[in-house]
Amino acid sequence: MVRETRLSVDSLIEPYFVVPGKKERREIASMPGQFQLSVDELLRDCEKTVELGLPAVLLFGIPESKDALGTAGYAAEGIVPVATRALKKEFPELVVIADVCLCEYTDHGHCGVVEDGELRNDPSLGLLAKEALVYAEAGVDLVAPSAMADGQVLAIREALDAAGFVDLPIMSYAAKFASSFYGPFRDAADSTPAFGDRLGYQMDPANVREALREVEIDLEEGADIVMVKPALAFLDVLSQVSEMSPVPVAAYNVSGEYSMVKAAGQLGWLDEERVAAEMLLSIKRAGADLIITYFARSAAAAIARGDL
Ligand code: PBG
Repeated sequence: MVRETRLSVDSLIEPYFVVPGKKERREIASMPGQFQLSVDELLRDCEKTVELGLPAVLLFGIPESKDALGTAGYAAEGIVPVATRALKKEFPELVVIADVCLCEYTDHGHCGVVEDGELRNDPSLGLLAKEALVYAEAGVDLVAPSAMADGQVLAIREALDAAGFVDLPIMSYAAKFASSFYGPFRDAADSTPAFGDRLGYQMDPANVREALREVEIDLEEGADIVMVKPALAFLDVLSQVSEMSPVPVAAYNVSGEYSMVKAAGQLGWLDEERVAAEMLLSIKRAGADLIITYFARSAAAAIARGDL
């Protein structure tokens, strides 16, 4: 009765990794309980998502083949557009969010165009805008640019507006840190950079003022939801962003945060469910309106049982 913070199922977003083919259900080695799914299997899984009352899914595509410009990321028949059309047909009320980035589609694993061994910001913007537009045309409800390219929110907003998608909102990965907690995700999406790191475009984990500035810039460019990522090592950033943001704030409880708990759970060192619940509560308490988490499903089940 006197509990100050409550988790509700409608603030949770479940991420999915979608692969080409049929009947594909490959468990991700470093993320027990998470799978790369083909579209038919994704549809099966999402029955459960909807049944549990989860409102939204976040899609990541893993293409058949990758190239220097990430062309599979903005192909009209690419993996995310195909998955989106199938999902919207089967579950019209499920909110489909598409991650907009090129690192899953480039052979070098960086988030945009690379020239002379360096990511080039401005040449990347057009491709990211094109990717967002292709996803809009496929019917996504929300686009979520995660490349940390300067000006990406504006470039995407302009491209969407010009094509008539004036009502399609943007959830911006505004304060995204260059974090080692993404390790398992890069296994899952096969997107580990072939050379170098992402420190040139993602933020230094030491910086909170810079994070607030990144959020302000994305708001000016038209972000409708701003995100802090990762969540747990950045709860102070999340708290400050939630105080200043005029729009809803999302937090990404990333792959490494999930894998640590699963690993310790498997070893019998931690009570997985309770630790996950505590983590999600801490993210909510710090001010997140929305939480993207690989625990979405287990948390929704716990909420339904009255355990969370
Ligand atoms: C794409 C992207 C990444 C994640 C979300 N979108 C990887 C990265 O930036 O390297 C990480 C999510 C996770 O770790 O769960 N840029």
